[in-house]
Amino acid sequence: MSQNNQPTLLVTGSSGHLGRRVIELLLEAQAGTIIAATRSPEKLADLRQRGVIVRQADFDKPDSLAEAFAGVDRLLLISTDALGEPGLRLRQHRTAVKAAAEANVSHVVYTSLINPGPDSPVLFAPDHHGTETALAASKLNWTILRNNLYADILPASLSRAMQMGQLFSAAGEGKTAYVTREDCARAAAAALASSFNGRRTLDITGSEALSQTDLAAIATRIAGKPVTYIPLELEVLIENMVAAGLPHPLAETYASIDTAIAQGKCSTVSNAVEELTGRKPTPVAEFLDTQRDALLPA
Ligand SMILES: NC(=O)c1ccc[n+]([C@@H]2O[C@H](COP(=O)([O-])OP(=O)(O)OC[C@H]3O[C@@H](n4cnc5c(N)ncnc54)[C@H](OP(=O)(O)O)[C@@H]3O)[C@@H](O)[C@H]2O)c1
Repeated sequence: MSQNNQPTLLVTGSSGHLGRRVIELLLEAQAGTIIAATRSPEKLADLRQRGVIVRQADFDKPDSLAEAFAGVDRLLLISTDALGEPGLRLRQHRTAVKAAAEANVSHVVYTSLINPGPDSPVLFAPDHHGTETALAASKLNWTILRNNLYADILPASLSRAMQMGQLFSAAGEGKTAYVTREDCARAAAAALASSFNGRRTLDITGSEALSQTDLAAIATRIAGKPVTYIPLELEVLIENMVAAGLPHPLAETYASIDTAIAQGKCSTVSNAVEELTGRKPTPVAEFLDTQRDALLPA
């Protein structure tokens, strides 16, 4: 605890979209002493001017972490984006968990994935399951936030669908309780700033689960012309992505998310966002209405 009896809070990955927003929310809430940890401190000069302590932390450099995590009470571990090299991301997260325990951090909040267990078909789910396992095996207390798919990933595919009048997916009739990154940031900031210090796992989801047909209906309304859902076989979806220029392994990774949706792994709806933040999650249709510039480029 700092002198004014408020906790010292650290956010890893603070120059990423989620991390930066969490820092902003912590500043607004005057939640305590705030440390922004990042590989690129130079990107956070503006935060430093606003009283945030900025520290260098790179999970690929374990030696950097003892200094980075020193004196921290509660730490938000933001999962990295290292999907290119198999095994790397889990190694990074295990390094961070070990360093947090060694630095005597009392509570770690971790951004996991919805239903990341061994039966998940999502190719990167083992990173999250492995990190959850590492937290469980550590001496740390923790809050695991199992984030559902971001609604923020939708404009890219729906914009294409609006141009073509067809929404392609291998998600079958499966549903997803998409959640905005803003709601994930609010949930993470609230969990970090809270006084909870046991162990808990929370599903961070939107308030309704939508099918591809539902998304096509929203796209139809926003475009003002019909958008029809066209279900694809998984292999066809992968072939299409490769034909569009995506490397095969990445296409397989993205397609595995469709399989998870088809299997119902993303349909979980919880009220954790509201319980943590006091505010209901933003409905997908409302979020997409704010994204018209991305959805309907001139
Ligand atoms: N649920 C979903 O649909 C969904 C969608 C996209 C991403 N995600 C996950 O959520 C995370 C945050 O999302 P975002 O939108 O903020 O992604 P983003 O803007 O791409 O940020 C990537 C994050 O990874 C961090 N990072 C990368 N390599 C690192 C390393 N060696 N050591 C420490 N940190 C490292 C970056 O931190 P610095 O650059 O500041 O060091 C940054 O915070 C992503 O990294 C990904 O794991 C979830």
